[in-house]
Amino acid sequence: YLDNGNQIFQDARKNHYAVGAYNTNNLEWTRAILQAAEETRTPVLIQVSTGAAKYMGGYKVAKDLVEDQIDAMDISVPVVLNLDHGDFESAKECIALGYSSVMFDGHALSTEENLAKTKEIVKLAHERGISVEAEIGKIGENQGADGGELASVEDAKAFAEAGVDKLACGIGNIHGVYPADWKGLNFDRLKEIADAVSVPLVLHGGSGIPEEQVKKAISLGISKVNINTEFQLAFQEATRKYFEAHKDEDKANKGYDPRKLLLPGTEAITASMKEMIKWLGTPSID
Ligand code: G3H
Ligand code: ZN
Repeated sequence: YLDNGNQIFQDARKNHYAVGAYNTNNLEWTRAILQAAEETRTPVLIQVSTGAAKYMGGYKVAKDLVEDQIDAMDISVPVVLNLDHGDFESAKECIALGYSSVMFDGHALSTEENLAKTKEIVKLAHERGISVEAEIGKIGENQGADGGELASVEDAKAFAEAGVDKLACGIGNIHGVYPADWKGLNFDRLKEIADAVSVPLVLHGGSGIPEEQVKKAISLGISKVNINTEFQLAFQEATRKYFEAHKDEDKANKGYDPRKLLLPGTEAITASMKEMIKWLGTPSID
């Protein structure tokens, strides 16, 4: 069964560690993530973006894939399945499908509208024991050194009062690869928000932030760190290396077998996640 993560993330917030939220894309990603979690005996959140769901054939296919792999791999650590950056309709769909957590991302709306829609999602989700993540401020989209729009303390209070279970805040963080002249995370704002609300805080754009900054953010109240690009880079690098080293073997050793071609990249994701778990300080459940 899927865990809604409420205990997991509240415990993380209270005890100043974080649990990774890793985006899946397909069978290989799903298995690589579950394997790293099981080997390290740590709880894990797997998340599905709208784009990844489309790629896999929809939110139901993605959910079935994760659940079937939990069974097939005999996974015994808690797994949270989260919709990542969902719009209102996607959040409702994933609640109906039985995702154990949904993110409603209303950052493009006015604050009032974002809050109103978030409240509707909270009501629908909580009736079913599903947890909700909301977003305040804006996560940058690789367009500049400053990151997106800083979340305000006032918004943090309003969304915490609305009953969200996790809160994603814009604190200078950026999705994708960070620009060379990136200004870094805004720890002053993070601290102000963390002092004002006790809800677990989420750091989006977790790939490529220097280790000391990730650790400092966690010490201040970040309890969930979202990682997507890091695994894509790890997969790409290992796959490229393998292709270059084996380019002459295509026919000789059944070098065209996709199970061989995809293995190095898949293993690189597991290795990268194990490193990340150390950074985040995610404790083993045993
Ligand atoms: O919601 C997903 C994340 O914020 C991932 O960001 O691709 O920069 O690691 P990233
Ligand atoms: Zn994100």
